[in-house]
Amino acid sequence: MLEHDVLIIGAGLAGMRAAIAAKANGANTAIISKVHPVRSHSNAAQGGINAALTDRGDNWEDHAYDTIKGSDFLGDQDAIEVMCRAAGRSLIDMEHMGVTFNRDEEGHLGTRAFGGQRRARTFFVGDFTGQALLHVMFEQLIKSGIQSYEEWFVTSLVQEEGRVCGVVALEIRTGQLHAIRAKTVIFCTGGLGRVFEPSTNALIVTGDGMALAYHAGARLMDMEMVQYHPTTLAGSGVLISEAARGEGAYLLDKNGERFMKKYAPNMMELASRDVVSRSEQTEINAGNGVNGCVYLDCRHLGEKLIKEKLSQIREIGIDLAGADMVKEPIPIRPGMHYMMGGIKTDVNGLTNLPGVYAAGECACVSVHGGNRLGANSLLDTIVFGERSGSHAAAAAGELKFVDFSAAAAVQREEQRIQAMLNRPQNGDRVASVRLGMGESMNRNLAVFRQKTGMEETVQELQELKARFAKVPVENKGKVFNTDLVFALELGFMLDCAETIAVSALERKDSRGAQFRTDYPKRDDENWLKHIAVTKGEVGPEISHLPVTITKWTPEERKY
Ligand code: FUM
Repeated sequence: MLEHDVLIIGAGLAGMRAAIAAKANGANTAIISKVHPVRSHSNAAQGGINAALTDRGDNWEDHAYDTIKGSDFLGDQDAIEVMCRAAGRSLIDMEHMGVTFNRDEEGHLGTRAFGGQRRARTFFVGDFTGQALLHVMFEQLIKSGIQSYEEWFVTSLVQEEGRVCGVVALEIRTGQLHAIRAKTVIFCTGGLGRVFEPSTNALIVTGDGMALAYHAGARLMDMEMVQYHPTTLAGSGVLISEAARGEGAYLLDKNGERFMKKYAPNMMELASRDVVSRSEQTEINAGNGVNGCVYLDCRHLGEKLIKEKLSQIREIGIDLAGADMVKEPIPIRPGMHYMMGGIKTDVNGLTNLPGVYAAGECACVSVHGGNRLGANSLLDTIVFGERSGSHAAAAAGELKFVDFSAAAAVQREEQRIQAMLNRPQNGDRVASVRLGMGESMNRNLAVFRQKTGMEETVQELQELKARFAKVPVENKGKVFNTDLVFALELGFMLDCAETIAVSALERKDSRGAQFRTDYPKRDDENWLKHIAVTKGEVGPEISHLPVTITKWTPEERKY
C-alpha cells in the first residue's frame, strides 16, 4: 500500500510550503492534489503579500493592530501575533527562493498600499503575485523530490483506531481508486468560493477539505464570515485587484462622485474590504450605480503605471467587459472572494482531530476574524503552511501507521461511487443543483443579511440536498470523468453551504463581513465570540468559543 508519514491534501501555496517543511524535518512526505500544483487557486492571488519590515521603519505590532482592527476584533490575537512576527522572514525566504518581487527606483523591494492598513507594506509582483509565488514554490517542490500525486482527488478519509489514518483518492486520469496510509494528514485544500455564484474563485474551489474534515468530526469555526471583495468585474465576477486602489484608483458612482468620502473619510477607497463592499452595495441599492455596479476609475494613474503594475487586470477588463481602464472607468461590484472561517486549528495547524492539521484558506487559525485584510492571505498560506508541515512531521515521528485494509477502504468507496453512477437519468443536472445553491447563497448570505432570507436559504439547501441525492452522473466512463468529479464536489459544497447559513443565523450581531439588517450593531457583550460548528447526528451542531484577546482591547472601528 502507498504510505507516507505526512500526507498533504492540496498543492497550492499552503500545501507546497507545508510539504517542503515536512520533508525538511525528515518526514516521508507526499502531496496530493485534484489539479496540477500550478493550477491551484493560489495562482489567482493578484495584489501582493503583507510584511512589516523593520528596516523600513515598520513593525509587526502595527501590522498586527491593523489586522485585528480589520478583523473587527474577532481574530485571535495570539495567532495574529505569530503571523505578523513571522512575516518578514517568510517574505525574504520567498525572495531567496526566487520570487522576483517588484523593486523601487533605488532597487529595494517595492511596496504598495492595501486596504485597512496605515502604511504601505504589501510586497508584490505586478498584479500576479500569487502566480509568481506558486511557480517558485513548485520549483522548490520538484527540487525537494517530494512525491506528488497530481490530479488525484481525495473522496474520503479512512478513520480507524480513533484517528484519521489515511485517505481514499480517485486517480482522475484512470478512474482508479487508491488508498493511501498516513500518520498525519494536512488539509491545504483552499476555500469554498464556488458555493456562491458568482465568485472570484476558480471553479475548482469547492470546499472539499472543509467538508471532509467536518464529516470526520473536525470543528469548523467562523463559517459565517464570508468576504465580498469590493472590485469584481461586471458580468463574469472576475477579480480586479485591490492593487488598483492601492496605486490610487477611485470608486465613483453614476454621477462621478467619490462616494467613499461618506463612509470612510480618512481611508476612502482603502478602508477595509467589508466596509468598502457595503458602501458600494448601499450606493447601488440607492440607485446610484449603473446596471448593478459602480465604477473603478484608474485613468489618472496613467498608461505607463497601468502597464507596469496592473497589466493583468487591464487585460481582464478589456477581454471580459470590453472596458480599457487606461481610457475609461470599469464597472465593478462586490463579489464573493474569500472564506475567513474554516477548520479550526491552533497556531501549529493542529485541529481537534489527532494527527489532522490544516493550513491556508481551508483553515481557521483564526488570523482573519470577521474580515481579512487584502494580502494577508498569501502570508497566511506561507506562515501556517510551514508551521503545520514542521509540526505534522514532528508528530508523525512519534506515531505508527494504523494497519487498515486498503482493499476494504477502496471497496467501500467504489460501492458509494458506483451507486452514484447507477442513478437513473431523471432530467435533473449537477449544474442546476450547483447553480441553485450558489444563487441562493448570493441572494441571502452576501453583503447584507437578515433572518428570513437566511432561513429561506437553509430551507432551499435541504431541497437541493434531496435533489443531489438523486442527481444522475451522466458520464459512466473511467477516464477523466469530470461529470463524476463535479458531482462529488457538489456534495462537499452543499455541506459547506449549510454550515455557513446556520452559523450566520446563529450570530445575532453585525461584525466584519456579517452585516445583519435585523441586528445592525456590533454587540461585544453578547457576541464577541467565535461560532463553531460540528457535524451532529441530524445536522450541524453549533457551539461558541472565546476570542483570544492579548493586548489590543476591542474598540469601535472607523476608517
Ligand atoms: O485584490 C487582490 O489583489 C486580492 C488580494 C487578496 O485577496 O489578498
